[in-house]
Amino acid sequence: MSSHNIRTDYLLDSDLIYLNTAALGPTPQAVLHRILQASQELARYPSHDAKDGLDIFLAAEQVRETGARLLGCDAEELRLTCSTTDSMNAIAQSIRLNQGDRILTTDSEHDGGSWCWHYLARRDSAIIDTVSITRLDYDHHAILERLAAAINSNTRVISVSHVIASTGLRMPIDEIAALAREHGILCVVDGAQAIGNINVNLKSLGCHAYATSGYKWLMGPKGTGFIYVSHDASSAIQPIYWNNLHSYINPTLALGLGTAIKAVLSHNITTIEHHNIALRNRAYAGLLELSTIKILSPPPGPQATAILSFELPDDLDSEYLRVMLREKHRLVVKAVEKKWFNGIRISPHMFNDESDIDALLQALRVYIT
Ligand SMILES: Cc1ncc(COP(=O)(O)O)c(C=O)c1O
Repeated sequence: MSSHNIRTDYLLDSDLIYLNTAALGPTPQAVLHRILQASQELARYPSHDAKDGLDIFLAAEQVRETGARLLGCDAEELRLTCSTTDSMNAIAQSIRLNQGDRILTTDSEHDGGSWCWHYLARRDSAIIDTVSITRLDYDHHAILERLAAAINSNTRVISVSHVIASTGLRMPIDEIAALAREHGILCVVDGAQAIGNINVNLKSLGCHAYATSGYKWLMGPKGTGFIYVSHDASSAIQPIYWNNLHSYINPTLALGLGTAIKAVLSHNITTIEHHNIALRNRAYAGLLELSTIKILSPPPGPQATAILSFELPDDLDSEYLRVMLREKHRLVVKAVEKKWFNGIRISPHMFNDESDIDALLQALRVYIT
């Protein structure tokens, strides 16, 4: 993939070296164009009554079909939402638990995927069990064993991230979903860092529900997302969104999301994933030469994704380094939330190339030995 040709398709400020798609992706020109075009048409003809054949609303509904092609599921199993948090909230709110029922999750979940379970635990007097994904613990087998050991006869839900936000660790969702199904437990997945980053086929993963955002790796409009509920979980999980096929989000944003997904489909997610992993592995190799930092993401291999994080020495504050990288070197990275570790996260995507990684490594050498 030649990212130099691709870069001009984005509205990113040309003065930025953007390595922070895992927080928010940049907007492709085509996405903004679609939103503006649809907004203008909607301003001129606000409803079907104003123009026969006005197709904005119908086209917005069809975005579920485009999403289903990318996610490997049926369009009837998807609805559009505003965000991953919105989707996770809607899933959790629709599940009825009894006092003493248990929700099994990990200690590495993003707030957007875990607040909902704390709400549910409060509302239904349920209990949250937490399995640890300790630092430098990439072993899928060990993670699975800990989850299996934490299941008991009251466990009703297992909820985990597909890709852990702080380290990019890819979780073995297919095996976790199989474990859940074996015990008659619902498996709910926070896919905020997965869709558009790695190849995902929801049917072969086998989870019951899945939540994701449209504006991270998919680079769609801010304020968009998907909620998925598998056909066979449709009586156990009934989010209010299912009442109405019409989009609950602004149709112009839905159409922008459709354009963003079509771009990912046309570039091919496997090609995108290889491109991003190659950049991430280049960064990984360069970071190994800095002896005072500790890489906390998996080494190159099956557990790795495009996200790469490293811990800084105690005397170098991550927020200070983030600001320095931005102000002195034009580099946009994320300072990892301090509750995880004092570190930096990068997340290269299809518009990045090797020169961006080399610029990062060169800049880091100014602050780190
Ligand atoms: C794993 C994970 N879950 C949930 C969220 C929240 O996503 P949203 O802003 O779409 O609600 C994020 C955001 O970074 C995330 O990384």
